[in-house]
Amino acid sequence: MMSEYLVNIEHERLSFFTPAGEVKALNDVSFHIKQGEVLGIVGESGSGKSVTAYSLMGLTAYPGKLLGGTLDFNGHRINDMTEKEFRKMRGNEVSIIFQDPMTSLNPVYTIGNQIREVIKLHTDKSRKEVQERAVELLELVGINEPKKRLKQYPHELSGGMRQRVMIAIALACEPKLLIADEPTTALDVTIQAQILELMMSLKEKLGMAIMMITHDLGVVASMCDHIAVMYAGNIVEYGTTDDIFYNPKHEYTKGLIRSIPRMDSKEHERLVPIEGTPVDMLNPPKGCPFASRCDACMQICLREKAPVTHFGDVHYTSCWMNQKAELEGGSAK
Ligand SMILES: Nc1ncnc2c1ncn2[C@@H]1O[C@H](COP(=O)(O)OP(=O)(O)O)[C@@H](O)[C@H]1O
Ligand SMILES: [Mg+2]
Repeated sequence: MMSEYLVNIEHERLSFFTPAGEVKALNDVSFHIKQGEVLGIVGESGSGKSVTAYSLMGLTAYPGKLLGGTLDFNGHRINDMTEKEFRKMRGNEVSIIFQDPMTSLNPVYTIGNQIREVIKLHTDKSRKEVQERAVELLELVGINEPKKRLKQYPHELSGGMRQRVMIAIALACEPKLLIADEPTTALDVTIQAQILELMMSLKEKLGMAIMMITHDLGVVASMCDHIAVMYAGNIVEYGTTDDIFYNPKHEYTKGLIRSIPRMDSKEHERLVPIEGTPVDMLNPPKGCPFASRCDACMQICLREKAPVTHFGDVHYTSCWMNQKAELEGGSAK
């Protein structure tokens, strides 16, 4: 059956069974990505962003276990796949780039060795064609003098260059989906902007979908079609980028927006951090996971997780404040 979605995750639950107890990493996570679409997954460290992405690629680390839900990607039902099938899928349909390109590249091999290896793995090109493709990929990601670069080792390149190389490697198989897991976190701001710009232009050129994972909502503002805001293993709010920025409904989303540095802010205007500590995932609270840090917390928030409130076709949140508005017929502010 052809689905209109490239990625469709419904009610995913995943836990890590550690000696200290069950870490409930994902608690009923649902979202989808269409062909060629960019989804931002935003949330603070430990909220479950990476675990979500890895589970989709069949890379859930021991002692993690998928406990429920369905995961579909490009016509595959991920739940039923074998490691062999995953390996084939990972090489051909989905690629991932990580935060730190120094640890992802092997320091003892040249850039050329590493790119050619991946091309050989995915195609049956001749030696000459492989070399040509390697040059072409480096050009695609904006690396000048590609022939010279292919002969260099990772430590001879800057952080930004190494990340470009990683992107080139990720694109070698022409993936339908590129997962970028905090791809610019280790880079300084100017380089970060260049890498994001590069990713967007590649998306336009190649038409792939991107899952953009970041703890920094500011990073994804200009590039995402949709944004999922994660907190403690839950998607607490989901919407178009405009919904999230101009009409945020969850107190956590509002906090994230207040903590973004603004270009037009006055010199000494202070950012507002979100007070309090993240949830202990071994002993998650019974009610709303954000309750203990929420300025608008009500009695019921401590007792019960909020049902989903929908605003139009796309935008939704799990927050009792919005239920309150719905019950009262008023508007939540
Ligand atoms: N291998 C593991 N063993 C135990 N717990 C893990 C493991 N990997 C991730 N977790 C837990 O799962 C939760 C989500 O982690 P992760 O998805 O890495 O967060 P992030 O949003 O920072 O990417 C965290 O509480 C983390 O401690
Ligand atoms: Mg992560």
